[in-house]
Amino acid sequence: MMIAVDGPAASGKGTLAAGLAGHYGLPCLDTGLLYRAVGRAVDALEDQPGFEAAAIAAARALDASHLADVAELGSARSGVLASKVAVIAEVRQALFDYQRQFATQPGGAVLDGRDIGTRICPDADVKLFIQADSKARMERRARQLESRGLVVDRYALYHQIEERDARDMANPNGGFYKADDAHLLDTTLLGIEAALRAAIAIVDEVM
Ligand code: C5P
Repeated sequence: MMIAVDGPAASGKGTLAAGLAGHYGLPCLDTGLLYRAVGRAVDALEDQPGFEAAAIAAARALDASHLADVAELGSARSGVLASKVAVIAEVRQALFDYQRQFATQPGGAVLDGRDIGTRICPDADVKLFIQADSKARMERRARQLESRGLVVDRYALYHQIEERDARDMANPNGGFYKADDAHLLDTTLLGIEAALRAAIAIVDEVM
C-alpha cells in the first residue's frame, strides 16, 4: 500500500503521515527533511552567486538515509532555505530516486511532502491533500517550536509561512498542486486525533 500525503507548511501532513504509517504498519518518509538538509548545507551562501551550484552538489552528495540533527532541520529558518533549494530542478532530480525507491519498497510506504501525489508517486494507492487556513497553521507551528523550547515571533512566523507557500505554489519545478485523484482533507477545525481518524476513514474506504 502506497500512501501519498501532500499539503502546505504546517498543515498537519507530517503528523498525519506518521499516524497513518503507525496505524497501517508502514515505513514513513518526511520528504521535506531532504530539502531542509540540502538547504542547511548551503545556508552560508543564501542569495549569493554560487548558491544554486552548491545546492545541486549538496543534493547529489546527500546521504538521505542518515540525516543529521533532525531537530535543527525542523527550524523555521531551515524551512525557508528548503523552499529556496526546492525551486532548482537539478536538486529535485537528485532527490527523486531516493524518494521513489522508498515509495516502491515491498510492503508499501507513506510519504509526505508537496509533490508526492503529482510527481513522486503519481501511481499511489491513496492520495491525501491536506489543507488548513494560514492562521491555524501558524499557531500549530508556533506551538511545535515552543514545545522545543524556542521563542517564537508569531507575526514573523505567519509571514514566513505565507512567503514559503507562495514560493512553493509558484515553483515551476515543484508539482505542488492537488492531484485530480487526491482526497482533500481540511484540518483547520480538527485536532490531531480527529484528523487522523478522518484520514484513516478515507484510506479504508479506498483500499
Ligand atoms: O514539508 P516541509 O515544510 O518540511 O518542507 C520544506 C520545504 O521543502 C517546502 O516549503 C518545499 O519548498 C520543499 N519541499 C518540496 N517538495 C517536497 C517536500 C518539501 O518542494 N516533496
